[in-house]
Amino acid sequence: MGALSLGSWLDVATKESLFSEIRNTILLDPGPEDETFWALIRQAYTVSPQIINLNNGGVSPQPEVVQRAMIRYYEQANEGPSYFMWQILDQGREPLRKRLADLAGCDPEEIAINRNASEALETAIYGIPLEKGDEVVLSKQDYPNMINAWKQREKREGIVLKWADHQLPTEDTNALVSGYTNLFSRKTKVVHITHVINWNGQVIPARAIADEAARQDIRVVIDGAHSFAHLEYRIPDLGGDYFGTSLHKWLSAPFGSGLLWVKKSRIADTWPLFANPDPESADIRKFEALGTRSFPIEHAIGEAIDFQLLIGNRRKEERLWYLKNYWTSRVKELPGVSIGTPVSRGWSGAIGLLQIEGKEPSEVSQALWKEDKIHTVAIIWEAIKGVRITPHVYTSLKDLDILVKAIHRIVEQ
Ligand SMILES: Cc1ncc(COP(=O)(O)O)c(C=O)c1O
Repeated sequence: MGALSLGSWLDVATKESLFSEIRNTILLDPGPEDETFWALIRQAYTVSPQIINLNNGGVSPQPEVVQRAMIRYYEQANEGPSYFMWQILDQGREPLRKRLADLAGCDPEEIAINRNASEALETAIYGIPLEKGDEVVLSKQDYPNMINAWKQREKREGIVLKWADHQLPTEDTNALVSGYTNLFSRKTKVVHITHVINWNGQVIPARAIADEAARQDIRVVIDGAHSFAHLEYRIPDLGGDYFGTSLHKWLSAPFGSGLLWVKKSRIADTWPLFANPDPESADIRKFEALGTRSFPIEHAIGEAIDFQLLIGNRRKEERLWYLKNYWTSRVKELPGVSIGTPVSRGWSGAIGLLQIEGKEPSEVSQALWKEDKIHTVAIIWEAIKGVRITPHVYTSLKDLDILVKAIHRIVEQ
């Protein structure tokens, strides 16, 4: 057999007809409840029918086109690594930057491509010039990697951390905003905001906090790991100075891909994490001095963007929100059950937290796995306790019906 086997020719033909069917169906403007359309989207993935993966909040699978692109670039790189990676694939970074910027609604000169939200946000966290005694406001509900990075600066440099502690879930903008702004003082230099709290899917009103911070000349770091390509917005509209996200979560890009956005006026006075010949340069590329990296992973981000645009940002957000509400509305009245995530659009998306009185999250999560092979994650963090359930665009209502039945059974036991 040659390089392309008969099997893969057939695959290509099947995929082409799948994508033309998706495109034709999109002309009919399918809504969140149109199972025929979403079944086509599911076919574009290669998810196992043996399990029901409802932990897409951790990391998402990639559509097959993205996987194939990654493998294609990898094979090409191996034909002559230094030539294909540095002279061919690397040339693709500038067009990719433009495409990411287009998706994010910002200037390409504000986008650095990197490996994940941790790398993006730690670049911002360690890059902001701070002195002993300067204050940083963050929340107890932020992501551990980011909390640890700030704590390391506290230990090494004597900056002072001020902690907001949110009572979640809530749809009270004032309570959330004042949770941060009440901690602002003349010494506050930075506020760190998690746009969507990973523990329970709560949306934090980043813009309102950022506006107040801007009035007081406080820099704003936004953790968008769970909101990018999930909720529909443009990064600059959040009002931050820095924004970091992984692309292997909601964008379904290859594992180990992310982006850092830095507002143009902040690039020059932010230190890169990896040293650069001109660390005070105003060129966003100074944040990409990582050395040899996985070019195939980076370049297959392009196919993930295509797939995202094929569905459409708004259509995706509506479907994800619909899926969360589909299962939560069918279990929330059961005795002892509560949902630890806001319901309304604008306050939540796909992530939902299931709480069952008298049952430990791990007990519930194990029961879901044992009986129905439903993969979820047990959450215990600060006052947040429950099982996090996160569908994705390939999740079917049939899968969620199995989940609903399983929750009924667990509650009755
Ligand atoms: C809110 C939040 N921030 C940052 C991260 C870090 O993402 P990564 O592990 O892709 O760097 C996560 C991961 O789950 C997260 O949920």
